[in-house]
Amino acid sequence: MRGEFEKVDAAAAMLAARVPSPPTVALVLGSGLGDYADTLEGAVAVDYADIPGFHASTVSGHAGRLVFGERAGVRIAAMQGRIHAYEGHDAATVVFPLRTLWRLGARTLVVTNAAGGANPGFVPGDLMCITDHLNLTGTSPLVGENDERFGPRFPDMSEAYSKRLAAIARAASADAGFVLRSGVYAGMLGPAYETPAEVRMVQRLGGDAVGMSTVLEVIAARHLKMDVLGLSCITNFGAGLSDAPLDHAEVKEVASRVRSRFVALLDGVFAKLGVAS
Ligand code: HPA
Repeated sequence: MRGEFEKVDAAAAMLAARVPSPPTVALVLGSGLGDYADTLEGAVAVDYADIPGFHASTVSGHAGRLVFGERAGVRIAAMQGRIHAYEGHDAATVVFPLRTLWRLGARTLVVTNAAGGANPGFVPGDLMCITDHLNLTGTSPLVGENDERFGPRFPDMSEAYSKRLAAIARAASADAGFVLRSGVYAGMLGPAYETPAEVRMVQRLGGDAVGMSTVLEVIAARHLKMDVLGLSCITNFGAGLSDAPLDHAEVKEVASRVRSRFVALLDGVFAKLGVAS
């Protein structure tokens, strides 16, 4: 991994020269959830294509730009779209943008995704606060030589998702008048959706939602000692829990249908973070 830190440094230096002030929060916007970045105040956008070491996502629903702006006085760097390991990137490349935002100053990660419901009590359109995860991707961004400038060889994962931030999200959902589910996110490599047997496996392992992102970013964030809030938009019943075949158009459609609740949740979280800081 030698050289990764220097590459992160170069990307952060380029961005520092382009943005008015450094972010305190990195916000990753998943499939169909990217619009939130357009609501930030004083937004300045930079295309991934213009940032050294960044790669554009090849997935529809992922715009591929960083938007710097503010909400409730909180300085946010929003990733409109992310890259995934299933696109052919190694895990370190997947987390490169996150490490760059940390290098710029972000110490909190708010990570969002679209996910299938493995918990039979969940229905499409539910929002879920991630309490923990299962990394079932078979890889990690920390494989290889460790660079102590990022963090320790063996980072602690016992509170991967901050209880303090989860409580803030629960309070924000109560203020907005809807129920926020909570549960364990199972991160798969993809890109094929799971088989019904795999969804049953996830259930038996204690998973409530299943998706193809987030876990690598959260491992890298904990390595960097960032506090993490994870939010899933349940866009479909997991495979085998309904008769309907799974498809990405449905995922994007449901994610955009819950837009107003998702915006209210994030706005509420940032309002409380703004007061707390
Ligand atoms: N499985 C994996 N990833 C997903 C799903 C799913 O059912 N829905 C949205 N992203």
